[in-house]
Amino acid sequence: MCGIIGIVSKEPFTSKEPLSRLKKLEYRGYDSWGYWNGKQLTKKMGKIVVYDDGTDVNLAICHTRWATHGGVTEWNAHPHRAGKVTIVHNGIIENYAELREELKKKGATFASETDSEVIAHLVEQGVNEKRGMETILKGLLATLKGTFATLIMVDGDDKLYAAKRDSPLALGICKSRMILASDIYAFSDATDKAIFFENDEYAVLTADSYAFFGADGQPIKKTPKTFAWTTVAESKDSYDHFMRKEIDEEPVVCQRLIVSLQGEQHDKFEQLVGLIRKAKKTVFTAAGTAYHASLLGASFLHQQGINAQAIIASEFENFITVDRETVVIAVSQSGETMDVIEAVKYSKEKGATIASIVNVPYSTIERMSSLSLQILAGPEVAVASTKAFTNQSTVMLALAQAFGYANGLEQLPEKLTETLQLEPKLERLAKELHHHRDLYVLGRKLGYPVSREIALKIKEISYIHAEGMMGGELKHGTIALIEEGTPVVSLVYDDDPKMRSSTQEVKARGAHAVVIGSTEHDELRVPAESEAEFAILASTVGQLFAYHLAKERGLPIDKPRNLAKSCTVL
Ligand code: F6R
Repeated sequence: MCGIIGIVSKEPFTSKEPLSRLKKLEYRGYDSWGYWNGKQLTKKMGKIVVYDDGTDVNLAICHTRWATHGGVTEWNAHPHRAGKVTIVHNGIIENYAELREELKKKGATFASETDSEVIAHLVEQGVNEKRGMETILKGLLATLKGTFATLIMVDGDDKLYAAKRDSPLALGICKSRMILASDIYAFSDATDKAIFFENDEYAVLTADSYAFFGADGQPIKKTPKTFAWTTVAESKDSYDHFMRKEIDEEPVVCQRLIVSLQGEQHDKFEQLVGLIRKAKKTVFTAAGTAYHASLLGASFLHQQGINAQAIIASEFENFITVDRETVVIAVSQSGETMDVIEAVKYSKEKGATIASIVNVPYSTIERMSSLSLQILAGPEVAVASTKAFTNQSTVMLALAQAFGYANGLEQLPEKLTETLQLEPKLERLAKELHHHRDLYVLGRKLGYPVSREIALKIKEISYIHAEGMMGGELKHGTIALIEEGTPVVSLVYDDDPKMRSSTQEVKARGAHAVVIGSTEHDELRVPAESEAEFAILASTVGQLFAYHLAKERGLPIDKPRNLAKSCTVL
């Protein structure tokens, strides 16, 4: 994944400015980081430390890493240098092994195990051969296979160079300063004017000018877009973690979304309803948490007689046929998940109509869609998605309502507030159960996607192995794993007899059964009056439970190991 920043400025700046911008991109990866200011190279392991080196410069690049090729070490951290050339890179160079061999034969010595370092050597080769930078960049686009957003500095040159394919890259245009970043978060405090790089474009930047070129070397005229986006929430306020703060925001952001779907976004919403009505097939595609919200959406629509499915983006081509009569709805918090982007590209090639449901405005997926709805959850800082899931599911609920599914959408914010009152009980439960290595979550119908979502949340932040599954599948294998004391969470809406039976079956084998239900006799009762409401409210219960399990285990809740907020690699 990785995050990159480059600044070229008339007024000098010290390390503090680029590093504080880089810090805003830490959600993209946080195993190591590095900074180059034309004089000194800094590479460190772990999370970014924003410091002031007191050295005034006009040009700098920096990088926060989520390792793909090469272990998490200081020497694999970016920037990478070759001779006079320094680069940072986000993406994966697929043909790096062969390029590396060719470059070695020509005398290059590699200092890291990364795929990225070949970019530095390729540019260096061009510089040594005295080819102009524009020619070198054009050559780079032709030579590199794979994905990249790369920033390049050359010793003694006061320009900043950039090239992109598939990995996100935006240029923030400030007064006498240009800021390149993986997303607009990083500069939204400094400007509201941005240019988004499209695929196979490169650019040459000075403090007050930009020139863009296509893969053929021809200049491209780009017009800055004015964007409106609140800056990243930088404070946890009185909360211990962003995740907990973001769960508490759910009633407010849900209300904001409902109002917007009835007002500002109403026309777009109706257009989406129209597209679904007209299409022969509606296919949601997404990854992780967003996929679970998509499963809810597909099920809601299916119950209203619409031919709807949800397909995991990374397996899209293998499990679905799409055509001109299909509407594909990409669901993504970040709008940058590469698996989803690939599924969208494939669907476009097949002639499908593309719509999307995103949180981050101006993101790649939004820009690839003919129609896009925003979930308006505001910046989500914690890696584990919470309020975004609630709002993605709220859009699904609104769609279901448009097709006649009565579900109490308007009361949802209030009910979310009520659900949050269960926290003390969940805290006690987490104290009891946090030592376990395995945990199971069972659900049926709409409870099935929720069981998977709760299990995902538990896995990613508490590192407890959790499996979310269909209650009916238990007896077909997994029940063999239930022993004395194994925690099993059942999602039981309105006393569903089948879910009650599944719960009895695990209890009979000694499981520590926990029920999240909707009736008076349920200890963990959510105030749901429809199955759809139950699904969303039970997910919030699961988020709080996962949070407290992780807290009991003393884990880094907002930045769990090995994860990144935005998955921009395949
Ligand atoms: C889990 C989580 C991930 C994301 C997934 C898709 O809490 O956050 O599973 O949901 O990586 O990300 P987006 O929604 O940005 O496409």
